[in-house]
Amino acid sequence: MSDTRAEALKVLVLHGPNLNLLGTRQPEIYGGETLVDVNHALERRAEAAGVTLAHRQSNHEGELIDAIQAARNDATTAIIINPAAYTHTSVAILDALNAFDGTVIEVHISNVHQREAFRHHSYVSMRADGVIAGLGTQGYHAALDAVVAARDAA
Ligand code: DQA
Repeated sequence: MSDTRAEALKVLVLHGPNLNLLGTRQPEIYGGETLVDVNHALERRAEAAGVTLAHRQSNHEGELIDAIQAARNDATTAIIINPAAYTHTSVAILDALNAFDGTVIEVHISNVHQREAFRHHSYVSMRADGVIAGLGTQGYHAALDAVVAARDAA
């Protein structure tokens, strides 16, 4: 079925370090869903909304930066990113996102503001159009919904 909606959305979901361990890593904080579960659920939601979705996880800062740079040239319209620990340290990821013209939504599974002080600061938030924290893996869905709603309102 062809998608008649005005603007084609191409969304890249980027998962930072240690998020490959979702489901087994501190489940009391990050829940029991695996990254495969999360990505499958997002793929289903994207398909229903007529969105082209790609996802990538990396434990390496440079690979995340390469993925953000690639998104400048492949018609990606939005990046949903959980930079994980790089949130709090990476000027380089911030710089890469600053060179990307589309929408950026920052997602954290946990409520970072209820946790250690070093998690309260985010470099990425200086660029993000929206920030979602503490909704568990539903935060990714909220981010995708926000991008779709902006398209539908345009
Ligand atoms: C996280 C929060 C970060 O502080 C942490 O380093 C992570 C995951 C979250 O999704 O809640 O790895 O980004």
